[in-house]
Amino acid sequence: MTNERIILITGGSRGLGRAAALALAEAGTDIVLTYQSNAVAAAAVVAEIETRGRRAAALPLDTTDPAASDGFAEALQDVLGARWGRDTIDGLVNNAGFAGLTPFGGIEPAQIERLVAVHFTGVVLLTQRLASTIADGGHIVNISTGLSRMPLNPAYSVYAAVKTAVETWTVYLAKILGPRRIRVNTVAPGATATDFGGGAIRDDEAYRAMILPTVAMGRIGEPDDVGRAIAAVLDPRMGWVTGQRIEASGGQRL
Ligand SMILES: NC(=O)c1ccc[n+]([C@@H]2O[C@H](COP(=O)([O-])OP(=O)(O)OC[C@H]3O[C@@H](n4cnc5c(N)ncnc54)[C@H](OP(=O)(O)O)[C@@H]3O)[C@@H](O)[C@H]2O)c1
Repeated sequence: MTNERIILITGGSRGLGRAAALALAEAGTDIVLTYQSNAVAAAAVVAEIETRGRRAAALPLDTTDPAASDGFAEALQDVLGARWGRDTIDGLVNNAGFAGLTPFGGIEPAQIERLVAVHFTGVVLLTQRLASTIADGGHIVNISTGLSRMPLNPAYSVYAAVKTAVETWTVYLAKILGPRRIRVNTVAPGATATDFGGGAIRDDEAYRAMILPTVAMGRIGEPDDVGRAIAAVLDPRMGWVTGQRIEASGGQRL
């Protein structure tokens, strides 16, 4: 058993997951990150973490496949044993996801199913499967969205509603895991310039101009803004905070 703190981040190859991994590494945390298909990007994040003096590993995971969590849990045990000589992690960030637009009038069952699979079913089943791997006193962060409380773009209605389900589940899970001193919180990012939604928040000037007046801090969020907030929520000094939704949006729609 070592003294390292190890956090598992799903979808750590890009965007907010990558930024959280780097912020945590800078704060002295080792990282296991997952990717869906982008092994090259995931390996680059592992290398960036190692240049910060921490250990890291990347594993493939498709959270749309409920059957994948058993195989993933075994692969995680293998990497924890081989790299760290441990069989537990100290935290889990359920971050993997995508932007699914569903304009009202044309919503198809398959669109709803895919959004639920990635943003809810995958989160619940992976967390349940890994609960015994998370050390007592550990922490879970579920990534939601500011859109769960801000109907800024009606085409995100289903996506935002599914994220709201995760927020509610977070509160219940905080009660379930409280006796093990495991904290469970939601971080709800505002609009942030990543590949999300085809990169529109980063690259589409008209879309950015529409978002900008909604942000009290007067600029569009960058991945590091949210990555640092996730790392801060995971900090042991937040040890008395559980079952909460923390929004990291620069004060969107205040
Ligand atoms: N950016 C925003 O404005 C914003 C705002 C609020 C909430 N969020 C939420 O924040 C989270 C991260 O978003 P992001 O902006 O960082 O997106 P991103 O830049 O597109 O990155 C998505 C990450 O999730 C992984 N991924 C996607 N679908 C997956 C699946 N089915 N199974 C496993 N991994 C999957 C990707 O892996 P590959 O690299 O292998 O494809 C990648 O690592 C999402 O849950 C999103 O809903 C984003």
